[in-house]
Amino acid sequence: MRPTGILGIGYAVPERRLTNADLEKMVDTSDEWITSRTGIKERRIAAPGEATSDWAVRAGAKALAHAGVSPEEIDLVIVATATGDYVVPSTASIVQHRLGIQSAAAYDLGAGCSGFVYALDQAWHAVRSGGYNKALVIGADLISRIVNWQDRSTCVLFGDGAGAVVVGETEPGYGVLATYLGSDGSGAPFLCVPAGGSRRPATAETVQAGEHFLRMVGNEVFKFAVRIMEEATLEVLRRAGLATDDIDLFVPHQANIRIIDAAAKRLGVSDERIVVNVQRYGNTSAASIPIALGEALEEGRLRPGHLVVCVGFGAGLTWGAAALRWSAAPAGGAA
Ligand code: ACO
Repeated sequence: MRPTGILGIGYAVPERRLTNADLEKMVDTSDEWITSRTGIKERRIAAPGEATSDWAVRAGAKALAHAGVSPEEIDLVIVATATGDYVVPSTASIVQHRLGIQSAAAYDLGAGCSGFVYALDQAWHAVRSGGYNKALVIGADLISRIVNWQDRSTCVLFGDGAGAVVVGETEPGYGVLATYLGSDGSGAPFLCVPAGGSRRPATAETVQAGEHFLRMVGNEVFKFAVRIMEEATLEVLRRAGLATDDIDLFVPHQANIRIIDAAAKRLGVSDERIVVNVQRYGNTSAASIPIALGEALEEGRLRPGHLVVCVGFGAGLTWGAAALRWSAAPAGGAA
């Protein structure tokens, strides 16, 4: 097996900011409720007519530039998303074509907000085994497109964006050290878009009933998230032969500051080692971890040799953690 890790990173978010004050005018909510329950102050919303691939392409191009890798070198494209441009074809094929990537396998990966870590795991295995040489892994979601903007219990939580990494061979001792993925489908009803799939194809009635929007049982997801963030982090560290004290940078899925705080407290990870940007972006689903990684790199918090642990949870219910010895260049090109 060859050492394999992240060679470059990039992210892209829409310019339009939707603040809590804006939401106060749309639904019966308040800045105080949103801030105290979630930590979110604003989120980014894609322009009308834009699709997930538009943001995936921007993030992917930045990751390629940061890695110094040309599109011709990429032989695998994975787009983790719950909000692909279409049901058919895959968003990954659209991204592959628009980035000028030739002769690559391309597919979408559906694991909700855990999708980026899932895709990183798949690319790591594909490259370290020698089956592929360089992969472009993108987490991209426009959750604003499947949110019911009249449902205050969900619409305040989400934002749009994309983050991408290039995965390839690294120096020995660097790169992904271990991953841990899991799923518990008994929690499928807790985060679900009831209609528009094969179970309930879209009809005038399903649209009328708002069944094409995301439905969430928030408190069930909350309890699951706090428990699984701790369990997944401990398991990936065990697989890597490391301990929580070894973590230089903890990059949790950015869904809710209370989930992040509770998980960090259980793990004993101190604040200065945690990346938090949920206040500016909300929950960007599969994009949240690579956006957080990209910002940490820009801020000089991420250097070669650092031990990074990424951990996410999401619809499925799913979870995923990755432990990496950071291998990408320290500055430039990330955003
Ligand atoms: N503004 C004001 N009041 C609200 C709002 C709002 N935006 N939303 C809900 N409420 C009300 C409800 O109507 C309810 O009122 P009631 O008690 O009179 O019925 C009350 O607030 C609910 O309060 P709590 O149960 O105390 O809310 P909680 O502390 O559970 O916070 C939250 C809710 C923020 C949704 C939390 O449960 C959470 O973060 N869950 C996890 C969600 C998550 O991470 N989802 C993403 C998963 S990743 C993916 O794959 C998409």
